[in-house]
Amino acid sequence: MPVHRSLRDGVLVLELDNPPVNAMSPDVLSALLAAIDEGEADTTVCAFVLAGRNGIFTGGADIRWFGKAPPPGTPLLPEVIARIEASPKPWVVALDGTAFGGGLEISLACDRRLGSPRARVALPEINLGLLPGAGGTQRLPRATGCAAALRIILSGAPVKAPEALELGILDGIENGDLLAAACALAKSTASNGARTLLSAQPVDPEPAAFAAARAQLAPAERGGLAGHRCVDAIEASTRLPFEAGLQRERELFIELLGSEQSKSRIHVFFSEREAAKVPEVPAGTPVTPVRTVCVIGAGTMGTGIAMALANGGLTVRVVETQDEALSRGRALIEKNYAASARKGRFSEAGVAERLGRMSFGTSLDAAAEADLVIEAVFEELDIKRDVFAQLERICRPDAILASNTSTLDIDAIAQGSSRAADIIGLHFFSPANVMRLLEIVRGSATSARAIATSLALAKTIGKVAVVARTCDGFIANRMLAPYGRETMSLVEEGALPQDVDRVMERFGFPMGPFRMYDLAGLDVGWRIRKRRLAEGKLAAVRDSEIGDRLCELGRFGQKTGAGVYRYDENRTPQPDPEVEALIFAESARLGIARRAISDDEILTRCMLAVVNEGAKALEDGTAIRPGDIDIAWIYGFAFPAYRGGPMHYADFLGLSKVRDELTRLSERHGAHWRPAELIERLAGRNGKFADLGAYEALAEPTGAAMAGRER
Ligand code: 3HC
Ligand code: NAI
Repeated sequence: MPVHRSLRDGVLVLELDNPPVNAMSPDVLSALLAAIDEGEADTTVCAFVLAGRNGIFTGGADIRWFGKAPPPGTPLLPEVIARIEASPKPWVVALDGTAFGGGLEISLACDRRLGSPRARVALPEINLGLLPGAGGTQRLPRATGCAAALRIILSGAPVKAPEALELGILDGIENGDLLAAACALAKSTASNGARTLLSAQPVDPEPAAFAAARAQLAPAERGGLAGHRCVDAIEASTRLPFEAGLQRERELFIELLGSEQSKSRIHVFFSEREAAKVPEVPAGTPVTPVRTVCVIGAGTMGTGIAMALANGGLTVRVVETQDEALSRGRALIEKNYAASARKGRFSEAGVAERLGRMSFGTSLDAAAEADLVIEAVFEELDIKRDVFAQLERICRPDAILASNTSTLDIDAIAQGSSRAADIIGLHFFSPANVMRLLEIVRGSATSARAIATSLALAKTIGKVAVVARTCDGFIANRMLAPYGRETMSLVEEGALPQDVDRVMERFGFPMGPFRMYDLAGLDVGWRIRKRRLAEGKLAAVRDSEIGDRLCELGRFGQKTGAGVYRYDENRTPQPDPEVEALIFAESARLGIARRAISDDEILTRCMLAVVNEGAKALEDGTAIRPGDIDIAWIYGFAFPAYRGGPMHYADFLGLSKVRDELTRLSERHGAHWRPAELIERLAGRNGKFADLGAYEALAEPTGAAMAGRER
C-alpha cells in the first residue's frame, strides 16, 4: 500500500510507503489524491498529517517516470500539491529523515512543517539538470527569502534540521514522538480556522542576490542550463503573482526535462547506482567489516588514499620503507590537511581528529590487525609481488589485500599466492582524497567477499565504485590509452597541444588532455612505455615519441615546471616554442606533412577512440555495463556529466553515425580504427549502448560464457 491512512483523534495521518525512498510514483500520487478526497469528505476529519515510513520522508518525484506518460487518470505531483493547498482543512507535515525534491515541495504547500532531529531537506533537481518543478521555486523564497532559496536550489545540497528551522523551512524540531506532536499541531491549527500558506506570503525582490547568483553560473551550453533556468524561475516569484509564477516554473521545468543535459544527468544518476550492482555478488554476500586499513607506500597515492580513508572515519596505519620517505609522506598529509582547513573544508578539530586516526611506521607488521591492506608502492611487479608475499604471512585470514596498481594485471600480482581469493585491485585516481572514482579490479580468483567488501568500502569513504575485470589498464586507463595516442597523433599531423586542449575544454572537460598529462606527470606514462618495451610488449599501434622526447629533456610537467607547457609561478600553462619546435621536428622525422586540422576532427578522433575501446571492453567483459564506463570517465577523468559519459555521448551521436565515422577513420588512419564488433552489431539493428544490461555486450552472450566468467 503506497499510502497508509490512520485516523488519530480527528486527524487523518497519511504515511508514504514506497521503499526504498518513498519516491512519489504514479501509484503514490493516486493513493494520496484518493486519501485527500476521503479526508475532505469525512466530517470527523479536522486536519491532515503527512509523513513517511522506511525511515525517510521521500526522495521526491519518481525520476524513473520522467519523460514517460503516467498511467491514464494518474495525477501529477503539482496537481496533488494544488489539492493540498486548496483543501478546507489544514495540513501538517511530519518530516523524519530525508525530504528531497518533490518531498520538500509538497511540505512547503502544507500549513506547518515539523521535523525530527534527523530531518534533512533539499531541492537537488539541479543535479538532474532540472529545477524544482512542483512549486519549490515559488514557495521556498517565500519561506527563506531569495538569497537562501538561490543558495539551496543552485547547490542542491541538503540542509539539516537546525539550519532548516533557522531559515524558516521548518516550524519546529520534535525530539519526542514526532507523529503525535504533528497531530497535536494539526488539531490546534484546525482550531485556529484560517490556513497559513506560503503561497499567500510576499517575496522581497533582493536584486543583488540574483545578480550575484547569475555571476556564479556556468555558461548554459557548458552544463549550466539548469542553473540559469533555476534563477529565472526563482526570480519569477518576485515578479509574478503566485499562480503565474507556478505557470512560469512549469514551462521552464518542461524545457529542461526535454534537454540533453538533463537526460545525461539522469543517466548518470541511475548509472552510478547500477554500477554498484555486480551480478556475481548478490545482495547479502558476506563482507569483511572494515575499520582499520593499512596503507603501504606514502607517496603521491598512498598519502591521498590515507586521507580518503581517514575522512571516511577509518583508522589508518601508513607504512613506508624507511623513515625519510615516511616523514616526507606524513608532512605531505599534514600540508594537505592544513590547506583544506584554510579552505574551510575541515575545522582544526576535524583535522586533528583525522590525523589522530593515523599512525605511521616502517614495519609491515602494522598490517597484522588490519581488515584491509592497500598497497601503493612503485609500479613494479616484482616489488608488489614481494609485498604481497609478506602480507600473506602477516595478515589475518579474513583480511582483504588490495593493490592500487594503475596498470598491472591483478592475476600477475596474485600469481602463486595462497591468498589469491583475497587479492583485489582498488584503483584510486589522483589526487586520491579528491577524485571520487574507485575502480575495483577483480582478478580471476578474486572472491565475491573481496568485491563486496570493496563496494562497501567505497560507500563508507564516499567514492563512486565501478567494477572492472583485470586487464591492461582496466576500464579507465585502458580507454585513456587510445585517447592519449590520438591526441599525440593529432599533434604529429598538424594540431598543437593548445588546440587539442581548447577543443576538449570547450567540449566540457575542465582540463584538456595535455594539461592533464602535465598535472599527472609525463614520467608516469614514460615509465610504463619503457617497462612495456623492456617486456617486449610493443604497442599494437605505434606510440608517439613526443612524450619520451620531453621526458628525456627532464620536462615531466608541473612537477618540474615544464612539460608540454611551461608553467609560471601561478601554475598557468604557457605554450612553449621549444616544444613546438620539438613537435615539428618529430613530424619531419616521421615524414608527416603537417596540415590544418579542424576542431571537429580533433573532437571526433578523441571521442571515438575512447568509445571504440569502451565497446571492446564491454565485448570482453572487462566492463559490465556501458553506464559503468560513463561513471568511470565522469568520476575518474572529469568527463562532463552533462554529456552523460562517452558511451551515452555515442548514443547521442547515433551508433550508425559512429560506425560510419570509425570506418572512414580506419580507411585513412589504419585498422586500429575499425569499429568494434559490438558497435557494428548495435548499429546494424539501430540499437543503443543504453539497451544493454549487465554483460549483455559479451561477444558470446551465452549462459555458458557467463557461467565461465563467474568465479
Ligand atoms: N525516484 C526514483 N528512484 C529513486 C529516487 C527517485 N527520486 N531516489 C532514489 N531512487 C532509487 C535509486 O535509484 C535506488 O534504486 P536501486 O536500489 O534500484 O538502485 C534506490 O532508490 C536507493 O537509492 P540510493 O542508493 O541513492 O539510496 P541512498 O539511501 O544512498 O540515498 C536519497 C537516498 C538521498 C534519497 C538518494 O537516493 C537521492 O538523492 N535521490 C534523488 C533525490 C532527488 O534528486 N530528488 C528529486 C527528484 S526530482 C523531483 O522531485 C522533481 C520535482 O521537483 C517535480
Ligand atoms: P610514488 O613513487 O609517489 O610512491 C611510491 C612510494 O612507495 C614511495 O614513497 C616508496 O618509498 C614506497 N615504497 C616502495 N616500495 C615500498 C615497500 N616495499 N614498502 C613500503 N613502501 C614502499 O608512486 P605513486 O604515484 O604514489 O604510485 C603508487 C602506485 O599507485 C603505483 O602502483 C601507481 O601505478 C599507482 N597509481 C598512481 C597514480 C598517479 O597518478 N600517480 C594514479 C593511480 C594509481
